[in-house]
Amino acid sequence: MASAVPVTELIVRKRDGGELRREEILDLIAAYLADEVDDAQMAALLMAGVIRGFTTDEAVALTEALVASGDTIDLSALAGPTVDKHSTGGVGDGTSLVVGPLLAAAGCQLAKLSGRGLGHTGGTLDKLDSIPGFRVDLTPEQLEAQVQTVGLAIAAATAELVPADKRLYALRDVTGTVASPALIASSVMSKKLAGGAAHVLLDVKVGDGAFLPDPASAVDLAQLCVSIGESHGRRTAALVTDMSQPLADGIGNALEVAVAVDTLQGRRGGRFRELCLELSAGALQLTGVQAAAARTQVEELLDAGAALDRFRAFVAAQGGDPTVADDPWQVLPAAPVIGDWTPGDGVVSAIACRRIGELAGRLGAGRRRQGDRIDPAVGLELLVRVGDRVDDGQPAARVHARTEDDLAMARAALAELVELGDAPVDPPPLVHDRVGLE
Ligand code: URA
Repeated sequence: MASAVPVTELIVRKRDGGELRREEILDLIAAYLADEVDDAQMAALLMAGVIRGFTTDEAVALTEALVASGDTIDLSALAGPTVDKHSTGGVGDGTSLVVGPLLAAAGCQLAKLSGRGLGHTGGTLDKLDSIPGFRVDLTPEQLEAQVQTVGLAIAAATAELVPADKRLYALRDVTGTVASPALIASSVMSKKLAGGAAHVLLDVKVGDGAFLPDPASAVDLAQLCVSIGESHGRRTAALVTDMSQPLADGIGNALEVAVAVDTLQGRRGGRFRELCLELSAGALQLTGVQAAAARTQVEELLDAGAALDRFRAFVAAQGGDPTVADDPWQVLPAAPVIGDWTPGDGVVSAIACRRIGELAGRLGAGRRRQGDRIDPAVGLELLVRVGDRVDDGQPAARVHARTEDDLAMARAALAELVELGDAPVDPPPLVHDRVGLE
């Protein structure tokens, strides 16, 4: 494979702890996309970087190279402040379904390009697909027109947008090179920069269910994302938020839409609603609203039903059945077999978050391989969190399964994944850190 790029030299330099220059990274990514650098070489270089670490300059250059590999969206013609929100991936993490409409109700404009589930984590597009009729394949023109009228559109990225990230991500997925702050930051931020929003709020997850479980790496990732965004002229901030246990009760596609609707209807409190409010207020702060005013504004809009109205309009604009906003289970697909899991008596001391996500995947809510079909109806309702007391006979989870065998499998698995003890346990904080926000 002929390449003008001295790939072997770059691999060796990185392996020995050296740094790659901006021009070298730009040439390398262009050559990889042109098939002049093969997957084995790229994987070796990525692994060297995962082990040795990448510098901030390397992460900034890699982001630039990824953005340059494809089209970008120009939102400068939109009237309101353009905002994007992105989570690094979690379990029961459907916050975009609430934060998007809430920010639109606050006068922001969101043209959001979302992804499908990855590994043990869920994806916004898969959740929206569970609403009958909903279309995620909008053209850039349709996306922009809808944002002008509704304030919000959520669509799949086209093949032309950041194609180098698509290839690199697939390679990282099978070569053990996902867990690097620089690689995750460049992957996430390339999509945010190409998406065109002037303000970017990131939800960087930390804990067992996150791609980077340890707090120091999660804060590193948050800081890197913020410096990449700011160095490209975007107002960027990050909340580092808890993923040591699933965020919402629902884990599975239709179940997560139902939780979001309940929250928009004001019928659900708890950690999921609280994080939606924190993220929405953080994004508003980026647009210039003072912190306390931002928090008051988003709470009032949510409680007044303004975000619910936006959600209904957004669903209808993308061809979905708007009844979902008023009576979700009239239109969402329900699983044929539903059964509770009752663990006995005790205090919940730990929940194996990643493996709960994997369990929902085994029920059919996720994919084993790219392109697999998912079952929108199945998943779990987790009815307890760390620190909760469970009494004998009280259900701690409800399984939504396709078959009785799956229900039995899930009950047996849950007994391993939710740990009960006798001593009181403090729940983990919801927001661990803030980067780029007061
Ligand atoms: N999400 C992304 O878009 N990229 C990563 O590398 C990890 C999570």
